[in-house]
Amino acid sequence: AKDPVRVLVTGAAGQIGYALVPMIARGIMLGADQPVILHMLDIPPAAEALNGVKMELIDAAFPLLKGIVATTDVAEACKDVNIAVMVGGFPRKEGMERKDVMSKNVSIYKAQASALEANAAKDVKVLVVANPANTNALILKEFAPSIPEKNISCLTRLDHNRALGQIAERLDIPVSSVKNVIIWGNHSSSQYPDVYHAVIDGDKPVREAVADDAWLDGEFIKTVQQRGAAIIKARKLSSALSAASSACDHIRDWVLGTPEGTWVSMGVYSDGSYNVPAGLIYSFPVTCSKGVWSIVQDLPINEFSRKKLDATAEELVEEKQLAYTCINE
Ligand code: NAI
Repeated sequence: AKDPVRVLVTGAAGQIGYALVPMIARGIMLGADQPVILHMLDIPPAAEALNGVKMELIDAAFPLLKGIVATTDVAEACKDVNIAVMVGGFPRKEGMERKDVMSKNVSIYKAQASALEANAAKDVKVLVVANPANTNALILKEFAPSIPEKNISCLTRLDHNRALGQIAERLDIPVSSVKNVIIWGNHSSSQYPDVYHAVIDGDKPVREAVADDAWLDGEFIKTVQQRGAAIIKARKLSSALSAASSACDHIRDWVLGTPEGTWVSMGVYSDGSYNVPAGLIYSFPVTCSKGVWSIVQDLPINEFSRKKLDATAEELVEEKQLAYTCINE
């Protein structure tokens, strides 16, 4: 039998946490033969709710779940974790400026970077879900210098999956028949969902199958960019089950590898590929093998796409500047 893997979920008493922890305990993230120990962190006002989640995890009697650490102590939560899914954060409330939200989250991610660096397994893989996801991940990377930059990522897989879903709905085919869409850039409405390289049924270009460039260049992009807001409007709560499921997809593919011929989107530390400024956490097409992601290289980028790649990069440069202003204040 395999040794258990320790998986940290921060913000575990929240909406996404509640959907995510049972998925992890069922083997959806790391495989049906991989025992896990769940580490759950939340803040003191949520301690009682967190304990309730722990009670339910016990009651669900998950065979793969070998232990539960539920705590409001960051160091204890981070102790020896192999995977860290950072969902905890300060939500944007009515009337709050972007800068106020940034300032709250930057200080959380700075502190949690240090806790992970001091306590986590040396090869911990980190996925930041909490918004602003790319910039939170960047701050985490900068304040945890001993964690390799290849091990810090943010979630854009939900946007990727949303793009697959929209194409599948439009063509009335199963979503499993669609692959190789790309989410470029920021997990925000400036992201660019790109279908120029996407295919259905193994090799047929999505552009040919859809045969409606106006829809692909217009409404499709907008729908994916605005999907989070549409879910809030419908549910009066933000996406949770789809975010949790996509977080499992992200870690599973990272750890266990992407299928041959398939890429996925991950927010990762830019090395300057595709002329995206180095030193940003930016969503790229990646393949994964043996626990390591690599950016898919040499995809042709046309003028339409180039503008969109640059616009979302520009927003990330601004966010980075804003984050540093907050840190230095
Ligand atoms: P939520 O508000 O239901 O849960 C957040 C939890 O984090 C709460 O239980 C809160 O007490 C906790 N928390 C706050 N500060 C913390 C800290 N310093 N340490 C540990 N825990 C802390 O929010 P929900 O719906 O679960 O969303 C969580 C985050 O994920 C939000 O920032 C949201 O914007 C983001 N999100 C990102 C998506 C993506 O695709 N990247 C998709 C959907 C949501």
